[in-house]
Amino acid sequence: MRLKGKTAIVTGGGAGIGEAIALAFGREGARVVIADRDASRGEAVAGAVQRMGGDSLFGLCDVGSTDSVTEMVATTVSRLGKPEILVNNAAIQLIGQDSRVHDVSENAWDRTMNVNLKGTWRCMRSVIPHMLGQGGSIVNIASPTGMLGVAPGYSAYSSSKGGVFGLSRVAAAEYARDGIRVNAVVPGTTITPLIEDMLNDDATRRSLEAKSPMGRLGTPADVAGIAVFLASDEASYCTGGVYMADGGMTAV
Ligand SMILES: NC(=O)c1ccc[n+]([C@@H]2O[C@H](COP(=O)([O-])OP(=O)(O)OC[C@H]3O[C@@H](n4cnc5c(N)ncnc54)[C@H](O)[C@@H]3O)[C@@H](O)[C@H]2O)c1
Repeated sequence: MRLKGKTAIVTGGGAGIGEAIALAFGREGARVVIADRDASRGEAVAGAVQRMGGDSLFGLCDVGSTDSVTEMVATTVSRLGKPEILVNNAAIQLIGQDSRVHDVSENAWDRTMNVNLKGTWRCMRSVIPHMLGQGGSIVNIASPTGMLGVAPGYSAYSSSKGGVFGLSRVAAAEYARDGIRVNAVVPGTTITPLIEDMLNDDATRRSLEAKSPMGRLGTPADVAGIAVFLASDEASYCTGGVYMADGGMTAV
């Protein structure tokens, strides 16, 4: 078991990629906090980890709220111990509201930034004090849209994910000597509730599949393996990196 004895927080652990990461962490022996704003999905994933014999709890949390993040981290520390692993995975993509730069509303821009970028910072700010002195691993889930212009019409989402790369790198430099590693993971187009409306359109789905060098879309389990590696001591010299789990999407 590669994460035995470690306490991990997975934000957005109730669905999609976060769920797959939480389950993989549970299989690898971590104590896992599922931090999600969706109670029924979060409880279900925590229950699934427990049925595998793992220690897990659901922490109701909106990463868009400082009070909510503070409370979730305090609950983690008191119930499962100081976190050694934090996966910042929760994010929103406001399909139908996010838009080109001159069209996007300030409200859609602010909501996206508040959850995707500021939420990542909020969770890091709350967790890092507990990692100082013991070390830890932070895995931030970014996106190809933050690196390449592959998502025209999603200016807020793409910018928020671009910010996640910057935040990950500066934090990697700031905490390297404290034994806290910070890395970014880049999923490709992955079949999850986040983009199900987009994928319900057959033409869009076929075009996304065609753009993938592997000729298929990703699954949440395709992304979980790299998160386990980065969270584990096997990645002891890996920090400030960007790791693709995108079927080759960003290679072409
Ligand atoms: N699916 C893709 O194609 C894709 C591609 C690249 C990057 N990503 C990134 O991967 C990560 C996971 O995406 P997904 O597709 O699994 O998403 P999803 O929408 O399927 O699941 C996200 C989970 O996060 C939770 N969540 C949303 N807002 C929250 C908040 N404010 N506080 C707490 N929890 C919140 C939701 O309840 C849900 O359980 C995101 O960071 C996303 O940007 C996804």
